[in-house]
Amino acid sequence: MHLMKDEKGKAISGTTKIFGCIAHPTDHVRAPSIFNPLFQAKGQDAVMVPIDIEPDKIEEGIAGLRAMPNFIGSAVTIPHKMSIASLCDELSEVAKITGAVNAIRFEGGKLKGENFDGAGFVAGLYGEGHHLDGQKCLIIGAGGAARAIAYALCCETIAQLDIYNRTTEKASALADAVLSEKPEAKIAVALELNEGKYDVVINATSLGLKDTDSLPCDPDKLSSSSLICDIIMVPEQTALLKAAKARGLKCHYGRHMLDYQKALIGAFIGADDVS
Ligand code: ATR
Repeated sequence: MHLMKDEKGKAISGTTKIFGCIAHPTDHVRAPSIFNPLFQAKGQDAVMVPIDIEPDKIEEGIAGLRAMPNFIGSAVTIPHKMSIASLCDELSEVAKITGAVNAIRFEGGKLKGENFDGAGFVAGLYGEGHHLDGQKCLIIGAGGAARAIAYALCCETIAQLDIYNRTTEKASALADAVLSEKPEAKIAVALELNEGKYDVVINATSLGLKDTDSLPCDPDKLSSSSLICDIIMVPEQTALLKAAKARGLKCHYGRHMLDYQKALIGAFIGADDVS
């Protein structure tokens, strides 16, 4: 790596700490482009590299990384979030509930896993000036992302969280999973979609990714004082958010969940603490 005299970053050397971004394929991963400029700006002796591991080689891949003392930690993305969770020695509560990790680190010979989707979502709400105190919240959907967000919301001072999903059994399983880790959580399954009675409505289904998708709820029924959130990043303006915006409702975009995770992932994998 060639560095200009006035740049703070260090050239890669024998002392450089290695961080990864594990995926397959890796062409589209964003973490290295985010973290390497940060390492440079802070003068850290570290590098983040994309690590492409075929799904059926993930066990060998992780064993290889485990054998490298200068491999510190990694972001984890599609399709490895669940398979790597099953290879971790220790999982955070939310990683257990979701059965998925998006950040790992080796520490004292152990592989530790975390999932920051929920924390990133909540940090995004606060960061964009919204609040959750005493709020009645609805999550539509009960997949991996919904699980992470549900747990994170139940760690805040919300009044209530209802889960509505096309497949009710999955909503019940989600509520049970949260309650098993957090018995005091104010979480329940909504058997019917009453989107008008909430302060915060979150679309955590995949509806909105495609132009042809139906809407996850009826925008005309939403309360005019509600905050409408989508976790879909592309397109940024989903049909739901467009319709909510047209009605003058407050909207919260999918990209915030990722933007507000960067610092959390960096701190967890140890990328903000290397010399
Ligand atoms: P992710 O990990 O991104 O959350 P997922 O686990 O596949 O993705 O979850 C997708 C969510 O979108 C689920 O809640 C799913 O509902 P089901 O549990 O009934 O499958 C929801 N979803 C997907 N397509 C849907 C549709 N056409 N109508 C209603 N909900 C839909």
